[in-house]
Amino acid sequence: MITLLAKALRKPTAADTIFLVKDGKDLTSFGLTEDEIAYVRKQHRDKNKVIPVNRYKNLLIIVYGELSGTLYSRLEASRVRGDEAQLLLNKAKSERAVVYNVHATKEEELAFVEGMMLGSYQFIKYKKEANKNLGSLKEVNVYDAQITESDLEEIKNITDAVCAARDMVNEPVSYLTAEKFAEEMKSLAESAKAKVEIFHKEKIESLKMGGLLAVNKGSIDPPTFTMIEWKPKHAKNSKPYIFVGKGVVYDTGGLSLKPTNYMDTMKCDMAGGAAVAGALYAIAKAKLPVHVIGLIPATDNRPDGNAYTPGDVITMHDGTTVEVLNTDAEGRMILADALSFAKKFDPELVVDIATLTGAAAHAIGPMAMVGMKSKSDLDFETLGRVGYQVHERIVEFPFWDEYKDLLKSEIADLKNIGGPEAGAITAGKFLEHFTDYPYIHLDIAAPAFLGKRGEYRGIGGTGVGVRLFYEFIKAKAEL
Ligand code: BES
Ligand code: MN
Ligand code: ZN
Repeated sequence: MITLLAKALRKPTAADTIFLVKDGKDLTSFGLTEDEIAYVRKQHRDKNKVIPVNRYKNLLIIVYGELSGTLYSRLEASRVRGDEAQLLLNKAKSERAVVYNVHATKEEELAFVEGMMLGSYQFIKYKKEANKNLGSLKEVNVYDAQITESDLEEIKNITDAVCAARDMVNEPVSYLTAEKFAEEMKSLAESAKAKVEIFHKEKIESLKMGGLLAVNKGSIDPPTFTMIEWKPKHAKNSKPYIFVGKGVVYDTGGLSLKPTNYMDTMKCDMAGGAAVAGALYAIAKAKLPVHVIGLIPATDNRPDGNAYTPGDVITMHDGTTVEVLNTDAEGRMILADALSFAKKFDPELVVDIATLTGAAAHAIGPMAMVGMKSKSDLDFETLGRVGYQVHERIVEFPFWDEYKDLLKSEIADLKNIGGPEAGAITAGKFLEHFTDYPYIHLDIAAPAFLGKRGEYRGIGGTGVGVRLFYEFIKAKAEL
């Protein structure tokens, strides 16, 4: 993993060096031999963009190929190239590399470095030393007058935040119980000087968070409710922005038990919560002048002697009664309590993020998240725009009131599942019931966790949502 990122103060001579070039002319400007230039040109004709040139003492990597298209697609291509470059450096057992910019824009170069940082992430704590295969690359230096130390510090903070979120997602429930999850979020957020409060079971009971308590009934581990607050003195907003993250540390489905294959990856069901914690870390670390609150209800969802059952009627935090018809629709039960709790802050906007439905995953796959909005057109647009910028894209689904009709119950105010159709939307409609403020719902069921390596997103937990929320709040800071 790359743990050091700083400017290179001198021109690299003997270091492993990555050259960011645009065209053939650039190749003559930094001391390649004629043979090397011919080799690089040939590789480039063969459509290779990240071209290693091995010397006896050091490795050169020529990143060659003009980027075209929108800013968004150029930034994303740069990240992917950064990932390719770090793979080559690690393969060559390089410990330090210098990025030498010949012809990239500042934004492209920073995205390239971001791709290197994120791509080099590893989760290997459970392997014994001999099997760890620890990446050799530890340090990246950037040689470019237009890049400042604070540009690099920002990249480091953001990528640290993403990696911290990934770590939490990748931790199995054998380690990461709800209480452990709350403690990890607390130490992460406090290390950035954000304020954290953890509600334990008694406090959750006194707040009558019936949804969270119902899901927790089948567990032998208590639930938690974590509040993270970043409230700078000169905040630009008077009402806070609130992020709510689903924190189901393991989802067996409960009594509506999942089939084995569907359960395998369900340690990822707190990825929304981890994204909120990661984002608050990055926001606080950067001291962005915006008042932001994160709320993360957490529990595992298991079948046990006292587990909540299909048919149960649960009274939620806001007094709404819910007929439970599927205990596997647990995310909405715990999020609903957090959403109604959020009312007391009189928020400017609430955005929730959750691995909520297989329906969202099936509809669009891991290429994007599913989004829905109510009373928040402008903010949804901003979020969608920064989503392209960081390549955490949002696909808007309809949110018409007709969908809410599918949640009508004969015996309670709502039931916790709709019909077989439009599952991602009925889940969103269920949640919207507990809001009275501008609201955005994000379903990250597919992009939160990858079964095979997705370039710089890695394998396993991706940390999706962290960069999205950071950029969103940064946009608010710049207003
Ligand atoms: N955590 C799951 C959703 C999920 C599925 C996340 C796949 C990541 C990958 C959620 O709690 C769930 O079980 N949803 C049910 C809802 C249904 C019972 C209405 C689903 O999507 O099947
Ligand atoms: Mn479930
Ligand atoms: Zn779930």
